[in-house]
Amino acid sequence: MNNINPIYYGVEGLKELNTFIQNNKPSKIVLLVDENTHELCYPKLITEIQADTEIEILEIESGENNKNLYICINLWEALTELKIDRKALLINVGGGVLTDMGGFIASCYKRGINFINVPTTLLAMVDASIGGKTGVDLGSHKNQIGNFVLPKMVLVDVGFLNTLPYEQLLSGFAEILKHGLIADKKYWQKIIELDKIETEHLEELIKISIEIKKNVVSNDFTETGLRKILNFGHTIGHAVESFFLEKNAPILHGEGVAMGIIVESYISMKKSLLSYCEYEEIKSYISLLFPKLNLKKEYFNDIFIFMQNDKKNINNEIKFVLLEKIGKAVYDISVDKELIEEAIYLYIDNE
Ligand code: GLY
Repeated sequence: MNNINPIYYGVEGLKELNTFIQNNKPSKIVLLVDENTHELCYPKLITEIQADTEIEILEIESGENNKNLYICINLWEALTELKIDRKALLINVGGGVLTDMGGFIASCYKRGINFINVPTTLLAMVDASIGGKTGVDLGSHKNQIGNFVLPKMVLVDVGFLNTLPYEQLLSGFAEILKHGLIADKKYWQKIIELDKIETEHLEELIKISIEIKKNVVSNDFTETGLRKILNFGHTIGHAVESFFLEKNAPILHGEGVAMGIIVESYISMKKSLLSYCEYEEIKSYISLLFPKLNLKKEYFNDIFIFMQNDKKNINNEIKFVLLEKIGKAVYDISVDKELIEEAIYLYIDNE
C-alpha cells in the first residue's frame, strides 16, 4: 500500500499549508494560476498564506490546448529567470489542466521541487489533483508525456466551486458518476437521486469520491493493474476528446467521459457482463444530464486511431475497463473494432 498525499478540506487546509510553509521554509513560493483563478481564487488564497518569503505569480492561459511542452518550456524559463531554486514551493491553483501541468513542471524543474495542489474545479477536486498523475498532451494525444509524482498535499475548498460555470461542474460530475459505477452501487444510487448539481450536495460527494480514488491509488500507484479501473469511460472518452481537440473544437473532459461511459456500458452489456437493465439505467441518467456530442459516423476511423494510442493498451491490443455490474469494474478486456464501432454508432443514432 502506498500512502498517497494528505488531502485537507476548507480552513483546515489553509492551516496545514501554513504549517508546511513554517516547517519547510521554502526559499520562494510560486503560485501558478490561469486568468480565471488569478481573478477569482488568488485574492482569497493570498490573504491566507502566512510566509516570510517572497511570493511570485506565474499565469498561464486556461484550456486544454495550452497543456503542452511549449508552455512548460516558457514556465521553466520563467522559473529560471526568477532564480527559483530547489527549495522553492510551487502551488498550483486551478483546474485539471493546471494541476496536471504544474505537477509536471515541478517534478522536472532542477530534478524536482515541492508542489502543492489547490484544485478549483470539481474535476480537479475529485480526480486530476489527486493521485499523483502529472503530464501534458503531445499534439492531440492526451497526457502522453508525464510521470507519477505526488504533491506534498492537496487542499480542497468547495467554496471555489461557486466561481464555476455550470458546464464545468457538469464536467467534474462525470468523474463522480464514474466513481459510483466502478466502486460503489449505493454511492451511484445516492448520486442519481439528486435532482440538481449544487455545491451544498457536492461537499459530501467530493469526500466520498476522493476516498474511492484514494483507496484505488493506494493499492496501485503506478497503474500496473487495479488503478486502470479509474479509466472507465476514458478509452473512448479520451479518444473523442483528442479527436475534437485536433479539429480545434475542444470539448470538456467530462463531456467525453460521459459519452465514453454510455458507450463502454453498452460494450459491457454486449460482452455479457453488465445486465440490460443496468445499462439502460446508466444510459438514461447520463443522457438526460449531459448534452449529446455532435459525432458523425465518418469520424469513427479517426477516433479509433486515437484509441490505438491509449496508454492501457498491451501489444497493440486496445484494452478496456468494463462494468461487470454497477459498482464493480474489470480491466484489461479486449474488444473487437466491430463492437466498438457498433457501440459508437448506436450512441450517434440514439435520439
Ligand atoms: N484519472 C485517472 C487516474 O488518476 O488514475
